[in-house]
Amino acid sequence: MPPPRAARAALLASAVLAAAPGLQRLAPWPRALVAAPLRAPQAALGCPGGAGAARPRERGAPARRALSVEMEVRQQLLDAEAPGEASVAVCGDVGAEPSPSGRGAFLLDTDRGKCFVKCGTGGSSAPRETLEYEAEGLRRLRAATEAMRVPEPWMVGELGPGRAFIAQELLDLRGKPDADALGRGLAQLHAAPPPEDWRSFGFPMDGCCGACPQLNNEAGRDMDWVEFWREYRLGDQLRMLRERNPADTEVQELGAELMEMLPELFEPIGGGAKVQPSLLHGDLWSGNIAALKDGMPVIIDPACYYGHYEADHGINYMFGGGSAFNNRGYQREFEQAPGYPRRAVLYELHHHMNHYNIFGSGYRGSTIGKMRALLR
Ligand SMILES: Nc1ncnc2c1ncn2[C@@H]1O[C@H](COP(=O)(O)OP(=O)(O)O)[C@@H](O)[C@H]1O
Ligand SMILES: [Mg+2]
Repeated sequence: MPPPRAARAALLASAVLAAAPGLQRLAPWPRALVAAPLRAPQAALGCPGGAGAARPRERGAPARRALSVEMEVRQQLLDAEAPGEASVAVCGDVGAEPSPSGRGAFLLDTDRGKCFVKCGTGGSSAPRETLEYEAEGLRRLRAATEAMRVPEPWMVGELGPGRAFIAQELLDLRGKPDADALGRGLAQLHAAPPPEDWRSFGFPMDGCCGACPQLNNEAGRDMDWVEFWREYRLGDQLRMLRERNPADTEVQELGAELMEMLPELFEPIGGGAKVQPSLLHGDLWSGNIAALKDGMPVIIDPACYYGHYEADHGINYMFGGGSAFNNRGYQREFEQAPGYPRRAVLYELHHHMNHYNIFGSGYRGSTIGKMRALLR
């Protein structure tokens, strides 16, 4: 999810702060000293929700000087035995350094290599479940494709109520993504069948797309794609818009018409019942696509669910011109199906609505425009 236009200045400021002297590489220290107060908390990380704040003290616990966010995460990595993963113990001479991204993220050295730590998501703080959802998405993406690299999630932890972090393998993202290679990887992802225990649309965990909650039919109720899209995508976005913008009756009227005509968009491919679930990245704008130095495509920061493969194209049209899918690598596997151009508008509309919900009326015009285009 790209940062809101209005927040760019704030993000820039937090990136500058993240590079501030307060974040210079920490001196080595022996493991036994890890819990000792090494330095004052600093709010320079730009970590959402007040980075550097201490964990709330348990009642009756002795007062303890607050740890910085890097120290806190480092301590949790040291304490953690991530289930099913190799040891994530941090070696004795750990250092932390600012991440290339700024935005409430930083790097740690561990005995498994460098680790990228992100506090919250999309530049805002996030509860543990949100980052657990991101970690589960990364795991599933990794299992579904070898043609693209997906960072391995190492740990999700909490810095305070509603302030979680995710630690993951650091990748060197200085390459330039090759469109065909990316397309081949995405085709492999979309062609992989869902796991045995998931036959429906959605995902076994509810999640979010950017700062908006995204319900995912986590109970796995049996439904066809049109029903799923009506209820969990168009319907949920309209509900949130009604709560956040009650005066905008036009968007509700157009939305209701669109709900009615939805099945029509799927008639050229034999109806919504013909759509099979594919694993979708869910938030594939250009900022969530990168490459290793050798050109190997990398995808990060997913909002996964199982759905119609074409739905993954939507935000890539909105921010990226659709280039991830308009290439031979992808289209060798997935030729454009009949009726695609109109469904592409539908899937892009979903992200305009999501942006309208998150960032407000700056996205109203594009939302209404796409709705009208579909209803013409
Ligand atoms: N595993 C990683 N290794 C190296 N850099 C990463 C990694 N994950 C993310 N980044 C960098 O951090 C930036 C923001 O990460 P992302 O997960 O997209 O965060 P956000 O939730 O803020 O959008 C990316 O654009 C990339 O530059
Ligand atoms: Mg991102």
